[in-house]
Amino acid sequence: MIVDNEWAVEARGLVKVFGDNRAVDGVDLNVRAGSIYGVLGPNGAGKTTTIRMLATLLRPDAGSARIFGHDVTKESQVVRQLIGVTGQYASVDESLSATENLIIFSRLLGLGRAEAKRKAVELLEEFGLMEAAKRPLKNFSGGMRRRLDLAASLIAQPPLIFLDEPTTGLDPRTRAQMWETIRRLVKTGSTVLLTTQYLDEADQLADRIAVIDRGHVVAEGTVDELKASVGTSSLHLRVQQTQDLEAARRIAERVLRVQTSVSSEAAKMTAPLADADLTADLLIALREEGIRLAEVSVQKPTLDEVFLTITGHGVKDETADSAESKELEAAGV
Ligand SMILES: Nc1ncnc2c1ncn2[C@@H]1O[C@H](COP(=O)(O)OP(=O)(O)OP(=O)(O)O)[C@@H](O)[C@H]1O
Ligand SMILES: [Mg+2]
Repeated sequence: MIVDNEWAVEARGLVKVFGDNRAVDGVDLNVRAGSIYGVLGPNGAGKTTTIRMLATLLRPDAGSARIFGHDVTKESQVVRQLIGVTGQYASVDESLSATENLIIFSRLLGLGRAEAKRKAVELLEEFGLMEAAKRPLKNFSGGMRRRLDLAASLIAQPPLIFLDEPTTGLDPRTRAQMWETIRRLVKTGSTVLLTTQYLDEADQLADRIAVIDRGHVVAEGTVDELKASVGTSSLHLRVQQTQDLEAARRIAERVLRVQTSVSSEAAKMTAPLADADLTADLLIALREEGIRLAEVSVQKPTLDEVFLTITGHGVKDETADSAESKELEAAGV
């Protein structure tokens, strides 16, 4: 299918209300065709609800959305031919094997018998499901199901693929494999909109990210823009002798002219690093005082820190979150 539109997704003011819960409360999203777009947010933020509206599975209460220029409510039939949503396909029949499910799905998409079989084997190999190929789906683990889901969505390879938390619950190896597949999908012409609670996943994959919290987009931009909005890098030092930590701190505050924070159990000190060039002065000053270091590193802000800065709370639930921020306060962060 030829799709000629700069924007894969253009959503304006999407709203979905469940009872008195405004699950999605005025979401705008623009996803450029050919990109990977990450929607990032904690449990209950409204990620799945947003995707369900974009995928024509749920009718918005307000606002509008276009997929490659086609309205999700007025042209839902056209939209459905342009999208793939993982989670729908693989479970054609629980009693059939992975191979049989993929063959049936290929046949439903109009592939010939031989072609369908070839495609099924190729995908099962790629996703490391060959040993499990003959087993019925009902004996599959969660991770295997997810892999089969994505494999099924590759048969048709629609122009826009929604992946709702594609790697939740996967082991690290499978997760890396999933990332590779997602990148390959985009290289071969698809657009991917994925949701994730893993900040490193958005960091690894997404060209742009929307951070959503309680139904609102609270930040949008490239990963670097979001990180930059949080501020500078930080310098981390660990001293060999814990009793040197206070002295190291005094020297660092004098040389770098910033507030530092220390963690004495870990013999560690952290300082914001506005001027990287001062690091050399600090290291010389520490050497002159005879303070020996065990570790030195400079870190860019993590997306976790970005999230905390933007929303004022962490990615965990409220109670865990406030306990954590008290700990951070106590640690002088
Ligand atoms: N069908 C429904 N009926 C009633 N409330 C719903 C329904 N679907 C979602 N909600 C509520 O809407 C809010 C947003 O849910 P949603 O599933 O979109 O969040 P999410 O960001 O996908 O979370 P998660 O990371 O846990 O998947 C939540 O408060 C949820 O309880
Ligand atoms: Mg969800």
